[in-house]
Amino acid sequence: QQPRPPSTGDQPAVLSPVLTRRWSAPRSWDIDTYRRLDGYTALPKALAVDPAQITELVKASGLRGRGGAGFPTGMKWSFLPPPDGKPRYLVVNADEGEPGTCKDIPFMMADPHLLIEGCLITCYAIGSSFCAIYVRGEAVQAIRRLTNAVEQARAAGLIGKNIQGSGFDCDIVVHAGAGAYICGEETALLDSLEGLRGQPRLKPPFPAVAGLYARPTVVNNVETIASVPDIVSGGSDWFRSMGTEKSPGPKIYSLSGHVERPGQYEAPMGTTLRQLLAAAGGMKDGIPLKFFTPGGSSTPIFTPEHLDVPLDFDNVAAAGSMLGTTALMIFNETVSVPWAVWKWLEFYKHESCGKCTPCREGTGWLTQILRRVVSGAGVPADLDVLADAAENIQGRSFCALGDAAATPILSSFKYFRSEFEDLISGRAAPVIDARELVGA
Ligand code: NAI
Ligand code: SF4
Repeated sequence: QQPRPPSTGDQPAVLSPVLTRRWSAPRSWDIDTYRRLDGYTALPKALAVDPAQITELVKASGLRGRGGAGFPTGMKWSFLPPPDGKPRYLVVNADEGEPGTCKDIPFMMADPHLLIEGCLITCYAIGSSFCAIYVRGEAVQAIRRLTNAVEQARAAGLIGKNIQGSGFDCDIVVHAGAGAYICGEETALLDSLEGLRGQPRLKPPFPAVAGLYARPTVVNNVETIASVPDIVSGGSDWFRSMGTEKSPGPKIYSLSGHVERPGQYEAPMGTTLRQLLAAAGGMKDGIPLKFFTPGGSSTPIFTPEHLDVPLDFDNVAAAGSMLGTTALMIFNETVSVPWAVWKWLEFYKHESCGKCTPCREGTGWLTQILRRVVSGAGVPADLDVLADAAENIQGRSFCALGDAAATPILSSFKYFRSEFEDLISGRAAPVIDARELVGA
């Protein structure tokens, strides 16, 4: 595989794809297609070397977790205690649920075998012989396709005992969640996988030390694991030839909202929204951009002044937000910011697991006040209460969901507080009819 040059200026960002290169092939999800297009060629290379070398290679590649937090993948693997002859696990987080995020489910639909090959190599590297892929329950088609792919790989002798005569045993199980957003939080996911109610556990201990059934467990996102076979085949220097120094490699950006061609766009880490928009045909109907999320609704919003921020972990953080899941929800000038914030808060209120008071009660209060504001019944004190409640939820919740719920309020006040004030003073018409809220 050849390194690709970084994209510059307002040129389209999509160069020769890496992760998505098989997506347009006929029956791309089939094992025959995968094999014809170089699939399952990294696995024998991995099995031929010491497992520790694979972890070192992934460390050297600089791969960072693609689920949102950007934690260094090789480092996470190396946190596992030395093998003790007892089980240890790989769990793939395929519970993609962050609003606007749409990369892992299309991935499993288009190229499930790349994920499976990544699982096998990762299990080998960490000394595990069992991998569970936890897929969001609503993604029925993806679950079917992935399950079929696992069966194909099993029939081909790629899953099971003594894989390719290497002495390495590995089983892979596809597990369907039941559709709770909180089960994307890694420890809630583990509880759910164990058959318990999905609620976050106290960390530490991190899953690397005590995860599934209290055994050492690596939990990684679909896109992270799917990046591993190409790192084994291409090497760490090749991987580092894409993206930025501290966020190397390719990335799948999900573009949704007011854009001409919404969808998944693969580009090197550090590509800007301006470049991605050029690839996606620009803003829908040419109506200018008003605001966007760099990585889903849990990340502080950006405005047109951020069009040229390189979308990688460090540059987005330096500009005041988070890369998160690279879910770029794009809103044009016709959208009311208070309306969007209210919609997001309804989501967080619904999905709060109820374990801790700041989030369980706070998301309810925030939503109630926002309903008043968007329906034109707000009072001037509402904005201070919203800000105060959001600030008290952030940093005081048990898991990241509480922080995420506070984020849209605080970040929208930073840029668009006047829109909330106009709704309260009556200078702007209500954005929803109060009758829509009956029963809400
Ligand atoms: P985190 O920063 O707490 O942890 C990231 C990963 O690193 C975890 O796997 C954790 O176990 C590991 N880790 C961190 N410190 C460690 C240590 N000292 N020892 C061992 N392991 C360690 O982030 P978290 O809460 O797991 O994820 C938050 C992110 O999830 C947010 O940035 C958000 O963007 C993203 N997210 C993604 C969603 C999706 O649908 N993909 C949904 C909601 C949020
Ligand atoms: Fe549950 Fe929300 Fe508390 Fe997380 S922050 S534990 S989702 S109540």
